[in-house]
Amino acid sequence: MVNVITSILKTIGKTPLITIPNSNKTDEGQVLFKYERNNPGGSIKDRPAIYIIEEAEQRGLLKPGGTIIESSSGNFGISLAMIGAAKGYHVIILVDPKTTSTNVALLKCFGAEVIVVTEQDDCGSYHKTRISLANKLAREIKNAFRPDQCFNLLNSEAHYKSTAREIIEDCANKITTFIAAVSTGGQLGGISKYLKTFRPEVRIIGVDAVGSAVFGGNAHSYRIPGIGLGWTPDNLTMEYIDCAYKITDEQAFLTARALARNEGILMGPSGGACALVALKVAQNLTPENRVVCMISDGGERYIQTLFNDEWMKQQGFTTTVDIETLRAMARQLQPWSTCPATCANYRPDLNQSLEVPDTTLRMNAEVRNPGFYNQGIPIFID
Ligand SMILES: Cc1ncc(COP(=O)(O)O)c(C=O)c1O
Repeated sequence: MVNVITSILKTIGKTPLITIPNSNKTDEGQVLFKYERNNPGGSIKDRPAIYIIEEAEQRGLLKPGGTIIESSSGNFGISLAMIGAAKGYHVIILVDPKTTSTNVALLKCFGAEVIVVTEQDDCGSYHKTRISLANKLAREIKNAFRPDQCFNLLNSEAHYKSTAREIIEDCANKITTFIAAVSTGGQLGGISKYLKTFRPEVRIIGVDAVGSAVFGGNAHSYRIPGIGLGWTPDNLTMEYIDCAYKITDEQAFLTARALARNEGILMGPSGGACALVALKVAQNLTPENRVVCMISDGGERYIQTLFNDEWMKQQGFTTTVDIETLRAMARQLQPWSTCPATCANYRPDLNQSLEVPDTTLRMNAEVRNPGFYNQGIPIFID
């Protein structure tokens, strides 16, 4: 029989879990990278993108020939651009000056229209200005749909239903710690909800950027793309998070560079930030403990930035660390908070001030309770 796949979109998900034997010692907890670059759009964002688009189609919110409009620093936009190309939708993506030229080029490869928003918001970031403009365009353009990754709770639901379950299955249920970066809260929110529902003993660690305020603190500008927000996103339930770390730009970039050379695994800065925390956590655990660490995209998207020696020097950063120095760097990390629920910084007022679309509110009203989709998960044998 011929073995063919009928659409590129059917190859989303089922990404591998990978050990890092050159950086992770055998007498420590076992670090496992959930390597999301293997999605066809190159990042974890393919998962919420296809989920939200297909829900919108089923609910009649996105019609044939329609326009998809989104605010995205790159990855979610690229996923939507790929999906739009495969399904025949026009796609408009609002990015900002931190978005790499490679990401902009990728968006254009898939035929998306790209708008660069240069006005900063009151957090020194571009999130609010990008979102406001995307909402305005969605109101003005006929037959437009806003996936709205920041406020749409289907974002975390996508991870609850796919990523979380894959992790449990691939770990044969044996996972003691889970680590993910946060921006819209989709991945950390959805996976933590699943784990705290079915495996409450798993320790959940959130990773944010120094300069972001998801776990409170002062917001200021930083260089890591993909991580962080000026407030706590609705997709994230802080009570599910046991511990939070904040990572500097240089730490995230250096870790990604070191792991490319020592493990042959290319990742972006959010993966670097999570991997550094994973190395730290594993140092205090014994080998039967599995530490699953989300690596949300690949490194090719950052060839002109973090993998470029000149660019790193221009930022005032070191260019290389050997693995022992990296491990020592990890050992010195201290949690930002061991009770993130007390640092929550939710902003219900933004629904009104940023004029969150009606379609988002309608979709959110139908989100189910934890546990609805997985009435009892199977027992796995190692
Ligand atoms: C590479 C990368 N890592 C992590 C994140 C954060 O994921 P989330 O938005 O689901 O919180 C993003 C979000 O854009 C990302 O692009």
